[in-house]
Amino acid sequence: LRILLLNGPNLNMLGIREPATYGAETLQDIVHTLEAQAQQLGVTLTSFQSNAEHVLIDTIQQSYQQQDFIIINPGAFTHTSIALRDALLSVNIPFIEVHLSNVHARESFRQHSYLSDIAKGVICGLGAKGYHYALDAAVSFLQPHNQ
Ligand code: DQA
Repeated sequence: LRILLLNGPNLNMLGIREPATYGAETLQDIVHTLEAQAQQLGVTLTSFQSNAEHVLIDTIQQSYQQQDFIIINPGAFTHTSIALRDALLSVNIPFIEVHLSNVHARESFRQHSYLSDIAKGVICGLGAKGYHYALDAAVSFLQPHNQ
């Protein structure tokens, strides 16, 4: 099973960026932890981060028939990008939307997502653990009989 972990804009700044909101862990820390989890679960995890909307879209398009599931934290593009929504619909790959912070407890502009209604599920407010839960849920979704 092939799972793609996608992180959007400013998530490369984790650890430095607003640690009270996003935690002290760096993206590298999070990715290392998830790679170990993926190895234990016996799935292939590919991780990618970009600050550029078109690069995220290109990566989603290139995942067509190459990835079985996407775990995505789209950062601020969550609240702005119809193009990211269309890319995910185009490839028809099931995905989970993850946010470190509880977007519903923050500014009103963070409370709308262009992706949530087409996601298999949404995890927010649980910090870096949210990615861990998402990977667990992705594997259960893909292997319903083994989990
Ligand atoms: C975020 C929440 C978004 O509103 C914000 O723009 C981010 C990070 C989160 O992980 O909590 O960049 O996706």
